[in-house]
Order: sequence, then structure tokens, then C-alpha cells
Amino acid sequence: MQTSSKGVTLWLTGLSGAGKSTIANRLSEELIRHHLRTEILDGDAVRMNLSKGLGFSREDRDTNIARIAYVCSLLTRNGVIVISAAISPYAEARAKARETIGEFVEIFVKCSLDKTIKRDVKGLYKKALDGKIENFTGVSDPYEEPSRPEIVVNTEDETVDESVRKIFAYMAQRGYIDSALELSA
Ligand code: ADX
Repeated sequence: MQTSSKGVTLWLTGLSGAGKSTIANRLSEELIRHHLRTEILDGDAVRMNLSKGLGFSREDRDTNIARIAYVCSLLTRNGVIVISAAISPYAEARAKARETIGEFVEIFVKCSLDKTIKRDVKGLYKKALDGKIENFTGVSDPYEEPSRPEIVVNTEDETVDESVRKIFAYMAQRGYIDSALELSA
């Protein structure tokens, strides 16, 4: 049984409602089931704590991402498998996070804007489209797609299990987890 791992940050990026939190939670459940140390930094939770008071200007988003990256770097160097799930819309901020963290796997949680608008789990897209929320990613604020992510999971075509299996396979291939774990995910 594998009980320790090389630290790494799995950096999920994608639109609000693309499925980042769902995938982060399933990944974490699987890792815990295999007795591996893991931690999630979820955008919504971080904004209630570490980044309380920050808004959605580019400057505030960059500060938010830099804080998340800093915490990820501390955990990663202590052998934790860290899962970050923030929109992180700017390529430059993600590149800085990669530099800060080192062991960094960028995972593009891909879903079309049409689909996230249809899903609208939190009802925020409707508000944004009605002009009631400013600077909403994808509607009135940019999302810069990753140009060379290590992994792309397409949540419109894949089940959560398929996405998680894809991520496990990559981690096994890179030696972050035992290849035996890949099969049981
Ligand atoms: S990030 O851009 O700084 O990475 P983060 O992931 O922390 O964003 O927060 C995104 C969440 O905040 C969304 O899922 C949504 O629930 C909420 N939110 C509120 N206002 C906005 C906005 N203007 N743009 C995007 N998300 C928003």
C-alpha cells in the first residue's frame, strides 16, 4: 500500500460551473481512499477565508491566485497532493503559480460557455447576462485558455470518473502515485 507520495499541485483551471470542484472532490476522495495526503484549495472556500474581501478585478484575481499558489507551494514541498480549483483566468498568473510551486500539473477543465450557461448551478450566469454582476468570467471578463496544459478534461463529453481516471493515469505515468492506484480509480 502506498502511504506517502511526492508532493504535487494539480492545478484545475476553467470557467465557473465547468466542473472544477466536482472533479477536485472526487480526486480527493480517491486519494484519501488510498491513504494519500491531499488538500483542496477551492476558489469559493478560499474567497471566504484566505482571500476574504477580494473582488474580481484583474488585480484582485491575481492576488487571489498568488495566495493560493503560495499555500500550494508549502503543502507540495511537504509531500501533499494539492488540488487547486480556482477559475484562474489569466495565463500569466498561472505561469507564476507554476514557477512558485515547481511540481505543477495544469489541468484544463474544459466546458463551453453555452454549456456552463445552461447548467448555471449557482444562478450567477443569469445575473451576469442580465448585467447584475460585473466582470463575470466568460460573459464580461476574459478567460484565457491554457495553451499547453498537461491534461485536458472535457466535462461535456466525459463522466467525472473518466476525468479522474485520466488524471490518475497521468500521475502514475509521472511517478506521483503508484501505477496500481491508477487501475482502481
Ligand atoms: S478567480 O478568477 O480568482 O480564480 P475564483 O475561482 O476564486 O476566481 O472564484 C470564482 C467563483 O466566484 C465563481 O465560481 C463564482 O461562484 C464566484 N463569482 C462571483 N463573482 C464572479 C465574477 N465576477 N467572475 C467569476 N466568478 C465570480
